[in-house]
Amino acid sequence: MASFSSAAVPSAAPATTNKTNTLPPSPLFSKTSSHRFKTHANQTLRFKISCNAAANDDDKSLNNSEILNLTPKRSPDMQNVDRRNLLLGIGGLYGAANYMTSIPSAFAAPITAPDNISDCIAANAGISDKKDAARTLACCPPVLSESAPKRFVLPKGAVTRVRPAAQRVTDEYLAKYNEALQKMRDLPDDDPRSFKQQAMIHCAYCNGSYRQKEQDGKPRKEIQIHNSWLFFPFHRWYLYFYERILGKLIDDPKFAIPYWNWDSPTGMTIPAMFEPDPAKGDPRKNPIFNAYRDAKHLPPVVVDIDYNGKERGASCIDQISINLAAMYKQMISSATDPISFFGGEYKAGDDPVNMGSPLIGSIESGCHTAVHRWVGNSRMPNNEDMGNFYSAGYDPIFYAHHANVDRMWKIWKGLGIKGHHDPTSEDWLEASYVFYDENKELVRVYNKDCVDTEPMGYEYETSRIPWSRNRPIPRTKKPKIAARSAGRVRKVEDVKFPLKVDRIVKVLVKRPARNRSKEEKEKEKEILFMDGIRFDSETFVKFDVYVDDKDDEPATTAAESEFAGSFAQLPHNHTDKMFITSAARFGLTELLEDIEAEDDDSVLVTI
Ligand code: C2O
Repeated sequence: MASFSSAAVPSAAPATTNKTNTLPPSPLFSKTSSHRFKTHANQTLRFKISCNAAANDDDKSLNNSEILNLTPKRSPDMQNVDRRNLLLGIGGLYGAANYMTSIPSAFAAPITAPDNISDCIAANAGISDKKDAARTLACCPPVLSESAPKRFVLPKGAVTRVRPAAQRVTDEYLAKYNEALQKMRDLPDDDPRSFKQQAMIHCAYCNGSYRQKEQDGKPRKEIQIHNSWLFFPFHRWYLYFYERILGKLIDDPKFAIPYWNWDSPTGMTIPAMFEPDPAKGDPRKNPIFNAYRDAKHLPPVVVDIDYNGKERGASCIDQISINLAAMYKQMISSATDPISFFGGEYKAGDDPVNMGSPLIGSIESGCHTAVHRWVGNSRMPNNEDMGNFYSAGYDPIFYAHHANVDRMWKIWKGLGIKGHHDPTSEDWLEASYVFYDENKELVRVYNKDCVDTEPMGYEYETSRIPWSRNRPIPRTKKPKIAARSAGRVRKVEDVKFPLKVDRIVKVLVKRPARNRSKEEKEKEKEILFMDGIRFDSETFVKFDVYVDDKDDEPATTAAESEFAGSFAQLPHNHTDKMFITSAARFGLTELLEDIEAEDDDSVLVTI
C-alpha cells in the first residue's frame, strides 16, 4: 500500500511559549558578541555568542584532527545515499479518521522483549562492511541466571538526579563523571554493566538480535526500537539504567548523566567535555575519549542538525538559524500530535522491516539522525561509532546526545500545546524491554512506567529553548505556485507508483480543504503524509521535502517556511533483507499560513 496525501489530523492549537532561562556564554566561543535572529513576528532574539571562533581551520581543530586521525581511510562516498534504491510510493487520499491518535484497543498486542535473553542472536545487521567492522557484532548480553526477568518497580522517594547541560559542567562534575566512566570501562567485559555491554544493548535492540516474545500465536518477528513509537521510551529506559550503573559505581545516588543541548546556540558544538584537552596529557587515556568521530566536526565547528552527509558551508550564523528553525519544525509545526512526534504504531506480530506502514517521528528522523551522522566518522567502514546503530553506544557522547533527545520528549509535552501528549494506546503503554539494572538483576520495564521523568528520579537542568519562538520565514508570500504549475506538473493521482527518487520529483497534491477557520485549524492539523517509502537499509538515507517552493533553488533551508522537513535514517539492516519501508508526516498548517497560501486548492510538493 502506498500513498501520499495532504489531510487533516485532529489535534493541536498553535501556541508559543517563552520558557527561557539565561545562561552564561559557552566557553567554546572565545569571543563574545551578540547576533540578531529575525523571527517570524519580526521579534529579534539575541544570543551572546560569537561565530568567529567557529572557523573550520583554526589551529585547535587541526590539532584535534591529528589526534583523532587514527582510523583507516575509506572511500569518501561510502556513506552516500544510493538514491536509486529509494522508492517513493504515492497515491490515494486518507480521511482524517485514519489519523486518530491511538484508539485504546481491547486486544492489546504490545511489543514485548523475550524473557529468555539466551534467545538473542548476533547482530546481522545494518553493517555494510562486516569484515572491517570496528566493533563486535556479537552483541548479546551475558546470561547470568535461568530465571525470567523481574518486573521492575521504580524505587520510591529516590533522590532526584539533575542532568546537567554538557556545555557547562563544572570541573568537579567532570571529575566525577570521568571516575564513573573509567570504572564502567574497567568492569570485565562479561559484566552486564560494563561499558562494552552497555554499548552492545543498542546493537542488540536494533540490529536484529531479539525476536518478540510469543503472544497469542502472533509471529515472533524481530524487535526494532527505531522507526516507530518505541523510539522515545526505549531510549529513556536505556539511559536510566546506564545512569544508575554509573552512579552506583562511584557510590553517588545523585549522579546524573549530562545532556548535549544542541538545540540551543550555546550547545551547538561537540561539548568540550567530550574532547579532552591534549595539554592535559594524552587524551586517549581519558575515559571519555573516542577515536571514531568525524575530524571535520570537532569543536568549534557548529553542528548541522539537518546534516545530509555533505558540508553545508553555511556561515556560523546561518547554520544556527537553520538549526533553530529545524527544531521549531520538529517540535512544533510538524509535531502536532503523538504519532507525528513519537512515530507510528508498532505492535506484536508486526515485522519491523515490512510492517506495512511504520512511521518515523519528527525528532527521530530529524535532529536525532542528523547528529548521529554528523558525529560518526565518515572514513570508517560503517561510519563508526555514532553513524551506525550497531556501534553508536561505544561513543560516550551517544548518551549525552540521547539525553537531549529524551529532554525533547519532556519539553514537547510541557509546551502547553493541545495534542502534545503521550500515546494512550495499550499497545504502546504495555510495550516492554529487558535490561540489567545496576545490581546485575535482569528486569522487565514498561513504557507506561517511563512517561514522566520525576517518578523515575531525574530531571534536566533548565536551558533556554530559543527555537520555540523561531518560526521560519517564508521566501515568498502568496506564491500561487500550485495553480501556475498545473499542466506542467503531474497531479499525484496521475503518477504511477512506486516512483524512484533519483532526481528532483515534483507533484501536485490536492488539499482536503481551503481557508479553514482558526477553530477548525485548532481541531485538525493539515499534514502532508508520505507512505510506502522504501529504501536500502544499509545506507544513509535523507531527502528533503519542500512545499510551494518557488524554484529549484537548492538554497532553501530549514530556516525557510517552504522547507517542510526531511526524512532521514541511519543504516540498520535486518536479517539480510535489504529494504525497509517507512513513512513520514510533515505539518502544513503553519507552513501555508506563513506563505499565505491557505486559499490554494493544491500544494506543489518537491522532493
Ligand atoms: Cu537508538 Cu540514536 O539511536
